[in-house]
Amino acid sequence: GDAKKTKIYALPELVGSKVRIQGWVHRLRAQKTNYFLIVRDGTAMVQVVLSGDCIRTLDALDLTVESTVEITGTVDKVKEGQTAPGGVEVIVDWWKIIGRAPGGDEAFEGRLRPDTEASIRADLRHLELRGETATAVMRFRAIMLRAFRDRFHARRVTEVTPPCMVQTSVEGGSTLFEFDYYGAKAYLTQSSQLYLETVLPSLGDVYCIQESFRAEKSLTRRHLSEYTHLEAELVFITFQDLLDHIEGLICEVVDVLLADPIASIIIKTLNPDFVPPSRPFMRLDYRDAIKYLNEHGITKEDGTDHVIGDDIAEAAERKMTDQINRPIMLMHFPKILKSFYMKSLDEAPDFTESVDVLVPGVGEVVGGSMRISDLQELMAGYKRDGIPPEPYYWFTDQRKYGTTEHGGYGLGVERFLAWFLKRYTVRECSLYPRWMGRATP
Ligand code: 4AD
Ligand code: MG
Repeated sequence: GDAKKTKIYALPELVGSKVRIQGWVHRLRAQKTNYFLIVRDGTAMVQVVLSGDCIRTLDALDLTVESTVEITGTVDKVKEGQTAPGGVEVIVDWWKIIGRAPGGDEAFEGRLRPDTEASIRADLRHLELRGETATAVMRFRAIMLRAFRDRFHARRVTEVTPPCMVQTSVEGGSTLFEFDYYGAKAYLTQSSQLYLETVLPSLGDVYCIQESFRAEKSLTRRHLSEYTHLEAELVFITFQDLLDHIEGLICEVVDVLLADPIASIIIKTLNPDFVPPSRPFMRLDYRDAIKYLNEHGITKEDGTDHVIGDDIAEAAERKMTDQINRPIMLMHFPKILKSFYMKSLDEAPDFTESVDVLVPGVGEVVGGSMRISDLQELMAGYKRDGIPPEPYYWFTDQRKYGTTEHGGYGLGVERFLAWFLKRYTVRECSLYPRWMGRATP
């Protein structure tokens, strides 16, 4: 009748009103004269009190956690000395079950036992997502992406949506997912960088938040085969500008989230010891990092010392970053380790104007560089990497039709979240994570 249909988040403003809400039973405490429910609808949770005739129904006997319910009742302030989400409760006068859940264990996060096997847990991701931790991570992820978009907008960086189906590779052939495209070979994109570069002359600075795909052949805490890649490309900049932009953006997004009423609570709950990084980030030349590793006894996987030209593997990178215990901008990687498009250092052409941002607990969260802007240099880059230049004509043309200095970066959204919310693995930071051997649910 006169009950106003409302979402749960709005209830604290509606004390004294009659309302109708719909949601899932998050918790259930049945006493002789009262049932106390916590009901959630995706916007918030509220305590709901059933008593009298309301619990003398067949539905009341049938009620289980995770059932869907519809309720009408009156919003009341919770009694002095009691706590409930939002400080209010709904005193029910009518209710019904919309869809009953079976109850029992193995139903959703709260009921997945701590020793539940990882593969069962992964099979039940759709139910795990109903749990408080997974919900908090996903909600935080949404607020974080909004903050990135907002900060880009403030910088006049325009969002674009490049294709995911491509016929060129950006980061080498070994991690390409290949598929049949009307009889031709095509790939799932590893990075949208090359496409971003092509629209600098029309749109200026651009970014995208798009899925990237990597056929990673190892199972680690930080590798997914599909991940959300936040990439930006900036024109008329120097390497210094690029470093400042990345650092500034990260710090601004951290500040926005710490000031956000919902995100800040999630940080306090999941990562209470979080300390916002202080600027400027430590800047470390690759050659000094090699020195650091050797001086601190951090060896390669085979137990030998690192030498200039070596890749710094995940374990060594993480050890170093955890020891230093603050974000590091690791710069100037050797040319032989990096892709064909990276610009050389003027004073040391065997090294590049490149940067990885490393953070404690995760390691690399950002990879970026200045790009080769000279046509002949780019042609030499293809040749060195054994890449046939023809399929890249549209990327090459960029150097023919008004070339300029430019650079950009890619940030792994799940890795950034794992750092921010102190999650053990990036798998917790993806809605339905994909890794080697897993593409379901
Ligand atoms: O370092 P990467 O490979 O750099 C690029 O793809 C550049 N083309 C980006 C650019 O300059 N526009 O990847 C960038 C970031 C990494 O720093 C990491 O955070 C993330 O993407 N990343 C992954 N995240 C999860 N799973 C994987 N398999 C990832 N591979 C890279
Ligand atoms: Mg990288």
